[in-house]
Amino acid sequence: MTERPKNIALSPDGSAVRIVDQTRLPGELVFLDLRGRDELYEAIRALRVRGAPALGIFGAYAIYVLSLGYGAADFLPRLDEDAAVLIASRPTAVNLERQIERIRVLAHRMDGAPADELRAAMLAEADAIRAEDAAMCRAIAEHGLSLLREGDTVLTHCNAGPLATSEYGTGLGPLLLAAERGMDLRAYVDETRPLLQGARLTAWELQNAGIDVTLITDSMAALAMKEGRIQAVLAGCDRMAANGDAANKIGTLSAAIAAKRYGVPVYILLPSSTIDLRCPSGDAIPIEQRDPEELRSLWYERPMAPAGVSCWNPAFDVTDHDLITAVVTEKGVVHPPFDIHLKELFGGECT
Ligand code: MRU
Repeated sequence: MTERPKNIALSPDGSAVRIVDQTRLPGELVFLDLRGRDELYEAIRALRVRGAPALGIFGAYAIYVLSLGYGAADFLPRLDEDAAVLIASRPTAVNLERQIERIRVLAHRMDGAPADELRAAMLAEADAIRAEDAAMCRAIAEHGLSLLREGDTVLTHCNAGPLATSEYGTGLGPLLLAAERGMDLRAYVDETRPLLQGARLTAWELQNAGIDVTLITDSMAALAMKEGRIQAVLAGCDRMAANGDAANKIGTLSAAIAAKRYGVPVYILLPSSTIDLRCPSGDAIPIEQRDPEELRSLWYERPMAPAGVSCWNPAFDVTDHDLITAVVTEKGVVHPPFDIHLKELFGGECT
């Protein structure tokens, strides 16, 4: 069997990070080779690469590729500077900071080693981060699937599929695993205004996997739940605080509130690399603000709002922990109270 191309990998000559440009989907499957700091930074800002675990993997390979240009004398100062720049590109997904820091700390521990040895260790660590993510996503898919029954329809928001991770996805993992096993699960997909990750990416991934997908606007989700069309909400996460508050794509909170009203369980699926026990609650999670043009004109042939109208464009919201039925991690399904159970399971590794 030929191996499926990875979303994020080194280019064959080892000099660049190769990604699928997610802004070109679903129309075109385009791979980009990225080398310079500006283009690596731009790829994150423009969401060519996106999704919390994918950002962490990308950050790890990006910092390795940048290190190819460092000399022995200035290796660590340049590494520190590039790491700070890349980490600042998007603030909400903790994976980006966590995995870049993992590489940076490793290099500092090897202070004094020849540059080639440092680079080899950094690359091995980036490979390990990707492999760990693949294993975690697979386990999350298994645990998530245990919460669903044959014939269920789930609602999903944004994109938490293979494109957003190493390969399996988090929020979409149970659906993809079910499809592999011939189990009948269906999905309603929120289009996910304003950047349409649901319409462009999730619908594409699920359709390619042969899953029954119905695309809706975000504002239709409450009605779908009221009419009994949805048996569970499955969403990914960009950063989970110690009390279980979950930052995810803007609109997740509305879906969770509607789900509570209509008795639909809300499952947040995430690897432990997305849990940040340093944040006591969602109030401590930084929320990215994005360009107003994403509301006024992006995706439209002509602007759909009056020129210059002021906009508020937070990229994420925080779903309060009391709206979450369970958190699905690689170690299993975590039930409330999340402040106690998350610390018990992940206290040693998520700070
Ligand atoms: O702005 P994005 O597209 O990077 O936002 C992504 C999400 O909100 C995902 O749901 C989250 O990162 C989990 S991906 C497994």
